[in-house]
Amino acid sequence: METKLTFPSGFWWGAASSGPQTEGWFGKRHENVMDKWYRVQRNDFFNGVGPDVASDFYHKYPEDFKLFREIGLNSFRTSIQWSRLIRDLETGEPDPEGVRFYRDMITAAKENGIELILNLHHFDLPDELLEKYGGWESKHVVDLFEKFAKTAFGLFGDDVKYWTTFNEPMVIPEAGYLYGFHYPKYSGKGKEAAQIVYNINLASAKAIRAFRESGKDGEIGIILNLTPAYPRSDSREDTEAARLVDGFFNRSYLDPAVKGEFPKDVVEVLEKDGVLPAWTQEELDLIRNNTVDFLGVNYYHPKRVRAAEQADREQWKDWMPDWYGVEWEWPEARINPYRGWEIYPKAMYDIAKNVQDNYGNIKWFVSENGMGVEGEEKYRKADGSIEDDYRIDFYKEHLEQLHKAIEEGSNCIGYHPWTAMDCWSWNNAYKNRYGFIAVDLNDQSRTIKKSGRWFREVSDNNGFII
Ligand code: NOJ
Repeated sequence: METKLTFPSGFWWGAASSGPQTEGWFGKRHENVMDKWYRVQRNDFFNGVGPDVASDFYHKYPEDFKLFREIGLNSFRTSIQWSRLIRDLETGEPDPEGVRFYRDMITAAKENGIELILNLHHFDLPDELLEKYGGWESKHVVDLFEKFAKTAFGLFGDDVKYWTTFNEPMVIPEAGYLYGFHYPKYSGKGKEAAQIVYNINLASAKAIRAFRESGKDGEIGIILNLTPAYPRSDSREDTEAARLVDGFFNRSYLDPAVKGEFPKDVVEVLEKDGVLPAWTQEELDLIRNNTVDFLGVNYYHPKRVRAAEQADREQWKDWMPDWYGVEWEWPEARINPYRGWEIYPKAMYDIAKNVQDNYGNIKWFVSENGMGVEGEEKYRKADGSIEDDYRIDFYKEHLEQLHKAIEEGSNCIGYHPWTAMDCWSWNNAYKNRYGFIAVDLNDQSRTIKKSGRWFREVSDNNGFII
């Protein structure tokens, strides 16, 4: 029997993107940490492709917004690059060229009837701040971020109603300081990672305070990558390990952002391990008093957790609680054959219920969800279109779970797949494509994929038939 899944009226049918992954190095700006990484270690990137040209959104945004309308987007989230907007990083004084670009981009979104959700930090710390001050380990950098945020709200706060402070802030310590696969590529730096989590929570709260003090009419939130942690078995050890993994990787940002406080179980472990970050009561009060209006949630895959074996414990003992363990592959998992990540749509429902039951049913939206596919060109048909049915199926399955949660009262206001058009990403460069719109890197031409045409119908009908 056919059923139509209808979403709440005014639902955001959007897509997610970011400045550093789309704009390219055009125009004047400081170098950010990802640019620097590419400049010094080009071989780390698939086929040596970098963010220098990316998808040339810097020049092509007027036509891109028209294409976004064609695929049915009524909202779009991207980011303002700190390194482009700000000329003087110490004072927060803006660069006229950066101001002009973002103002024009915001106007183009408006003219196409697209609601913008603007994010302030998408892994793109200006590299000078890492070199001079140690990046997010430094509280001075926290204050400089607040200045940048103030400048952005002052310039664009009358035109943009929805703001977010950070995208996936856990990736910065996790990938850059614990596992060594993002710049600055450190491993096992538990103490530094803990300080970074604390400082970014503080920076987010300071930006939220600045937004409210600006008196602009709008809302501000944060974008978190929530990876539900499921125990591999129901043994006490695995259950405990999963709870702590959830604590470290989800609640370390979710709790301060929504509840204004750090999770006690995580703080206890950090204290026991002697890696508590430097904090003050005044800062904790600031975090408590400046929580978010709404949440963006990026969801791709869950974490499957088992209590660690003794050998692993030895290996991890300097930076992780001694019974932590994550399995990326487990026998029951359904793996995306084109990319390697587990596909588990039910976690979308679980996230929604968690936010509903444990975080005051705060307003939220899916700020990323998507399916990366390697070698997508082979699905291109003679008429030029890419027939990405696998992506349509992926979205349908996740939307079905989201719809179920909304029916049960979840306060979800939108769905933003990653991404509108194929874009550059860390390490992968353009290997795994995610877009509704294909980008040909030879001539920067765009072609709407089958999923883009499908999304248009979903958006027009505010739902779809299953
Ligand atoms: C998360 C990030 O926010 C984005 O930058 C990245 O490209 C996508 N996920 C895909 O991995």
